[in-house]
Amino acid sequence: MERVAVNTAAPYEALIGRGLLAEAGARSAGVLRGRKIMIVSDENAAPLYLERVRESFARAGFMTAEFVFPAGEEAKRLSTVERLLDAADAAGLTRTDGFAALGGGVVGDLTGLAAALYLRGTDFVQLPTTLLAMVDASVGGKTAVNLTAGKNLCGAFHQPRLVLCDPDTLATLPPAIYAEGMAEVIKHGALGGPELLDRIRDGEDMERLIADNIRLKSSVVSRDEREGGLRQLLNLGHTFGHAVEKLSGFRIYHGEGVSVGLMIAATAAEKNGLCVSGVAAELRSLLAAQNLPVTTPFSAEEIAAAAMNDKKRRGDTLTVVLPEARGKCMLYPIPAAELAGLIACCDGEVTGL
Ligand code: GLY
Repeated sequence: MERVAVNTAAPYEALIGRGLLAEAGARSAGVLRGRKIMIVSDENAAPLYLERVRESFARAGFMTAEFVFPAGEEAKRLSTVERLLDAADAAGLTRTDGFAALGGGVVGDLTGLAAALYLRGTDFVQLPTTLLAMVDASVGGKTAVNLTAGKNLCGAFHQPRLVLCDPDTLATLPPAIYAEGMAEVIKHGALGGPELLDRIRDGEDMERLIADNIRLKSSVVSRDEREGGLRQLLNLGHTFGHAVEKLSGFRIYHGEGVSVGLMIAATAAEKNGLCVSGVAAELRSLLAAQNLPVTTPFSAEEIAAAAMNDKKRRGDTLTVVLPEARGKCMLYPIPAAELAGLIACCDGEVTGL
């Protein structure tokens, strides 16, 4: 088993190991104050894992309640959070009780937000069952739901008390869902130094790869929990990726948006002379090897317009993350009005195809 410390204001650990889901109750008992838990899951993860997790919490002395909602981005709304909060109240959860998020990124983000809001803040544990949730969404305390205007526009920072990653759950993932996790892994490679990129290319053992990714994320989040500066680097590919997701009517997966977003960022950086050449080509080859999209039919102008609503925008300035060398990125503040010009060079290569 791998163990990663996340040194936020309220520190916690991420544990990575096969079979950990069956130990969710005993492991959570060490970090949660109360003995009542609301297990939150969606219609994809619940049939596979809810029984195992419920039994594990019961064995550890917890009273359990459950809330299962439809899978998919459409359910990631305040209306679902409200139903969950009502269910928590009906189950008699008190301030010392907690929530367990069992599923992918949508489940984790929504459960975390409910935990932040319920009785002005309760504990929760993350039990991610997708690669994307393990390497990114479950760690770092970003919780959110979507608004009509865009993804994750309503949320709070609220750190979990524990993250348990059981790589056995990855075996049941459809290939496209596994691949979107690899988009975040490749994003971390583009940020986290050439060694991580080498290990991705060479196909490192999954338990270690997850731990390496969480270590990278933890080192950033521990220094900038609330995204004052450094943490913005983790948004590599996301400003453009969210825009592409939105333009597609959320018909493409988040990781697919990130994949295209990475290609836009790397291509724009190279063509504007901000990045050494070869970075975009390597990312394209790593992403394509996972069957992730590396082009989009939307034009650079459409993508720039859709990115205007990005939550990272501060006044008239957007800070985009651009690669500058292999495994190294920079924050690049730009007036919102100049964004279309920055990425126009992607048309015919990544965008508008
Ligand atoms: N997914 C980016 C972050 O957690 O900051």
